[in-house]
Amino acid sequence: MPLLETLGPVTARKSQVAPAVDRPSAAARRYGIAPMPSLEWNEAVASETAQLYERIKTVVPAVEWPVFAPYVKAINALKRERNAVILAHNYQTPEIYNCVADFVGDSLQLAREATKVKAGIIVQCGVHFMAETSKILNPEKTVLIPDLRAGCSLAASITADDVRLLRERFPGVPIVTYVNTSAEVKAESDICCTSSNAVQVVESLGADRVIFLPDEYLARYVATQTKVKIIAWKGHCEVHERFTADELRLYRESEPGVQIIAHPECPPDVLAEADFTGSTSGMINWVRAHKPKRVIMVTECSMADNVQAELPEVKFVRPCNLCPHMKRITLPKILDSLVYLKEEVVIDPLIAEKARRAVERMVNLKN
Ligand code: 13P
Ligand code: SF4
Repeated sequence: MPLLETLGPVTARKSQVAPAVDRPSAAARRYGIAPMPSLEWNEAVASETAQLYERIKTVVPAVEWPVFAPYVKAINALKRERNAVILAHNYQTPEIYNCVADFVGDSLQLAREATKVKAGIIVQCGVHFMAETSKILNPEKTVLIPDLRAGCSLAASITADDVRLLRERFPGVPIVTYVNTSAEVKAESDICCTSSNAVQVVESLGADRVIFLPDEYLARYVATQTKVKIIAWKGHCEVHERFTADELRLYRESEPGVQIIAHPECPPDVLAEADFTGSTSGMINWVRAHKPKRVIMVTECSMADNVQAELPEVKFVRPCNLCPHMKRITLPKILDSLVYLKEEVVIDPLIAEKARRAVERMVNLKN
């Protein structure tokens, strides 16, 4: 495998996401605070939201819907009033993914969609680096994230200083940065990539070796798919690194015929057990295409609920690892986000401009 070496701190650093400040955002000062809608559950709400409940009835018990439905109704109404769109990652819970999102997808699809948004306000239901990517691509728009503390262990594993040191140590070697990083780190990079285009991005540079940051396991996976030599960093996803090859072998024994599909943020021995490896949307499309009788999605747990809602005939066997950052996003926080226009994502314009070059270079790559 052409993996040259792995560098970097072994332990994740403290989140670089700024703490929320409890005062009106600049957006709230611009657009004003909206009145908090009624959150009463009654027959009118039940009938207005009945079609949406149909979409998730196999994964959300009927007794829970009266709690979600008033928020769903209020969010959808306020979204129209505010001229806002909700971009939601595949890991969002079913009531967000199916009932309030305007667009869902993996990191690359969300970044691409962010370039096409017509609305003035984007509410990003995902983690902070995703909201930053939307802001980088839409400097004039208001980008909100319902909880500013929704970080990512990969983004926290590397700083812009680290990238500058790597440039000094490996002069002339191009730097490919996974989108799961801060805007400051992107700004120091030559090009970004996501899990769905990492190999294509690495090969697009025409170099015989590249620095690939910060996910060690994604780097190792890419190294198995290309002749380009990879210099990796020791960042890990705290969710995917918890899966083990032993547990997957046990599932294979207890669930004969089960298909195992995995995200490339998993360790190499876990990927060695998988029948397919791909981005979150790559995994969803694989299940749609193959409709296996039984499948294990070796990734964040909520995604199986979202695909289960669409494909009730498939049995999802679940080792359930949740991403604590993704799970900070909830319906009440999305509603607050739209009422108070918070938390606004702000990036230093000079950093945003440099980061934009790396993100746009990726987005503009032909498929
Ligand atoms: P995808 O780009 O495959 O959606 O991955 C994002 C992520 O954070 C996975 O943990
Ligand atoms: Fe980051 Fe892992 Fe959560 Fe994805 S699942 S957002 S990589 S911590």
